[in-house]
Amino acid sequence: MMQVNPLHPLFAAELIGADLTAPPDDQLVRTVEDAMARYGVLAIRDAEISDEQQKDFSRAFGPLEIPSRVPGAARPVGKPQVTPEIFYAGNLDHDGEIIPYGSDPKSLAKGAERFHTDSSFHTMPTKWSLLHGVETPPSSAGGDTWFVDARAAYDDLSDAMKARIEPLVGLHDFWEGRKLAGFKAEITPEMRLIIPFPTVRHPLVRTMPYGRKTIYVGGHCFGIEGMGAEEGLALVEELYAHATQEEYVYRHQWRQWDLVIWDNRCTMHAATPLHSDDYRRDMRRTTINESGPETSA
Ligand code: OGA
Ligand code: MN
Repeated sequence: MMQVNPLHPLFAAELIGADLTAPPDDQLVRTVEDAMARYGVLAIRDAEISDEQQKDFSRAFGPLEIPSRVPGAARPVGKPQVTPEIFYAGNLDHDGEIIPYGSDPKSLAKGAERFHTDSSFHTMPTKWSLLHGVETPPSSAGGDTWFVDARAAYDDLSDAMKARIEPLVGLHDFWEGRKLAGFKAEITPEMRLIIPFPTVRHPLVRTMPYGRKTIYVGGHCFGIEGMGAEEGLALVEELYAHATQEEYVYRHQWRQWDLVIWDNRCTMHAATPLHSDDYRRDMRRTTINESGPETSA
């Protein structure tokens, strides 16, 4: 028997009793789709599955978005057996050894500690991310993942603000997002060559397939089309500050084998620091698009 239990007054739920080791049947697909439409974040408990099974499960909901790996760029960290379709979000190096948390203050990965949506800096129609806790530290050591419900935040905007932002288009950029997240080092032309994403446009207000509206600023939105840089950033920051208020935040404390799914269109999420280098955090992410071929940006 599968059961869905809410984890927060506004959004986020857990799914217990699901078997992810077999190809998902119609009932499981429907249960997950329905729970995602209602809750935006779903933690499937006890998903003791392999990378291959994670990919197969993800594909039941949309084509995989393949991580962008640029020829010549440094290899991403992560255990060697992690396959090219998987984003690595843990603290292990290629030999499976712990990388101390503070060892690279310029680490681009620290950008994930600001609320963001995955992949808003490219044009692909990103749908969900599915993050698998293969090895998870105790919550007391840090490493919780925080989520916000941007639909509930939209609902609470004034009518005047809703009318103002309805027609607007946000500008999203990987490197501008890293600057907003406090990336201190100078961003050089070489770095832009290695990660060459151009600025892209997305509507500031999105309508979900099930009709609810949501604020879409992510962590990479740095301006508004047709507005001055300062005025645009000020509006983005006002919406971001509104959406990340306490009442919209769910803090996920990981259990081993959680497979946490979030809808990138209507939620934001943030990593939190590890306070200890004593624990292995092996986290593997698949990302799916709404449609299109399985490709990278
Ligand atoms: C991600 C991410 C947060 C975390 O995988 O996209 O932001 O807590 N992860 O690992
Ligand atoms: Mn992320």
